[in-house]
Amino acid sequence: MKTMYWQDNHLFLVDQTQLPDKTVYVECKTYQNVIHAIKTLMVRGAPAIGVAAAFAMALAELNGENLKKVADEIKASRPTAVNLFWAVDRVLKADSALDEAFKMYEEDINTNQAIGRVGAKVIEDGDTILTHCNAGALACVDYGTALGVIRAAVDEGKNIRVVCDETRPVCQGARLSVFEMQDEGIPVKLIVDSAAGRLMQEGKINKVIIGADRVACGGVANKIGSLMVALAAKRFKVPFYVAAPKSTFDEEISIYDVEIEERDPLEVLYYGKCRVAPEGTKVENPAFDIVPSDLITGIITEDGILLPI
Ligand code: MRU
Repeated sequence: MKTMYWQDNHLFLVDQTQLPDKTVYVECKTYQNVIHAIKTLMVRGAPAIGVAAAFAMALAELNGENLKKVADEIKASRPTAVNLFWAVDRVLKADSALDEAFKMYEEDINTNQAIGRVGAKVIEDGDTILTHCNAGALACVDYGTALGVIRAAVDEGKNIRVVCDETRPVCQGARLSVFEMQDEGIPVKLIVDSAAGRLMQEGKINKVIIGADRVACGGVANKIGSLMVALAAKRFKVPFYVAAPKSTFDEEISIYDVEIEERDPLEVLYYGKCRVAPEGTKVENPAFDIVPSDLITGIITEDGILLPI
């Protein structure tokens, strides 16, 4: 399944809010359509947001818009994944927004395959790997970062099992990562987020691999729940890897200066269509965690495995 494609001068995005039940592509004719898709999580995952933002700039260029003004609007769509800002700035410097977006589209696939090759070296035959949220093909143009490492290890003939945290509140682990693994015939189990520690305590997890929305000084930002997984992994001596392209690195700043997106309380108050808390319940809904460097074994990039900065 394609996360996105360009056809007849429009961008088509698979609506990830409807997966795994329905595969529906939304047609984006304007940059505003792409901003809406980013804000509502139709397209999500740091690399996918970046490439979608580049195509949003291309749509704006084709529609004769002021690209500097559009760039600011696109950058305001979500705050945490640095790929969004990286992509928009890169397109602003290019001669043609569309050509640059196509370049980024191709690069994303090649980069993820390189991350996969690098990461597969730390995966042993028989490993059970825990992952959180979705850092798969759906979070990128294709192949994925954390799930790309798993794909590459499986392609090398290693016998791998995957455990996916459901990743409340919007369950990208349950809906998207389980879906991707099942689709490829890779053995996968789903757990509730709070079961991750229990499985590590029982020795049922050999490695954790997650993605990242930003890698900065002092740690990594990734989906809420990542910190609890990292703490449990440290306690039970399970290697904890982050798989991320260099486009997710923001080495100039402290990870504690990254804006953590706060999302709609309704995501917490409802489980799917079912309300799970009484009327009037107050909610905090931070979408991302910061995992400090001392909890991270290594960062798997296209250029090799790096120690956290
Ligand atoms: O809110 P989302 O779904 O955009 O969050 C996605 C994640 O946290 C991913 O793990 C991260 O972007 C890495 S994707 C390769």
